[in-house]
Amino acid sequence: NFLKSLNMHEKGLTTAAVCVYPTWMCDAVKALKASGCTITVASMATGFPAGQTHLKTRLEEIRLAVEDGATEIDVVINRTLVLTGQWEALYDEMRQFRKARGEAHLKTILATGELGSLTNVYKASMIAMMAGSDFIKTSTGKETVNATFPVAIVMLRAIRDFFWKTGNKVGFKPAGGIRSAKDSLAWLSLVKEGLGDEWLTPELFQIGASTLVLDIERQIYHHVTGRYAAYHDLPMS
Ligand SMILES: *[C@@H]1O[C@H](CO)[C@@H](O)[C@H](O)[C@H]1NC(C)=O
Ligand SMILES: *[C@@H]1O[C@H](CO)[C@@H](O)[C@H](O)[C@H]1NC(C)=O
Repeated sequence: NFLKSLNMHEKGLTTAAVCVYPTWMCDAVKALKASGCTITVASMATGFPAGQTHLKTRLEEIRLAVEDGATEIDVVINRTLVLTGQWEALYDEMRQFRKARGEAHLKTILATGELGSLTNVYKASMIAMMAGSDFIKTSTGKETVNATFPVAIVMLRAIRDFFWKTGNKVGFKPAGGIRSAKDSLAWLSLVKEGLGDEWLTPELFQIGASTLVLDIERQIYHHVTGRYAAYHDLPMS
């Protein structure tokens, strides 16, 4: 009904994807199918969020998630490789992730809160893109520092440089600690200014929205009714 009063009910407005732990893949795919939704199901893989499992295990996790129906895979990088400057090893590992993901989209989480410097953020972004990531994402939401604007600017520069060098457009996803609809507007304008309108699509820009989606609902409720809803009145709370 709210969508109707905004004249948005026929626009097919949905989240870009729901992201679940690997063991929930089957259930998520089934539930969405049963409700007639065509939302992408993404799976965290590679020992999310710390990535501290054997490479063999992490690769198998990716394969199993794809087998279970994931069309998007979130991988986390080995932070030690970044902190010790082992860029080739990082690239090789990423290539293996890419190979394992088959047809699914690959989203690489840099965990920028643990990379030590903005130079490292830039280099890790570049390597993730060179190895074939479709998306680079700031954070898992589990690090002590989440997505920040300085880190975002560096990642957006890397995406732009990569595009200029190769012609390939890689997506950007800030995540972790983005809670309010107002915050999301700041991120939207950052991407618009950094990369241009072309990037403002679900294929190239997503926001980690586990908390955010509730505030967006509240703002829409306010816009339509002139009042704020209590959290317990909204389906996502
Ligand atoms: C990450 O890289 C470091 C440094 O090469 C290595 O010692 C460690 O085993 C790697 N971690 C995982 C989970 O593979
Ligand atoms: C980071 O994001 C997560 C997920 O939104 C949140 O639970 C956590 O409190 C945030 N941490 C900080 C330091 O903002």
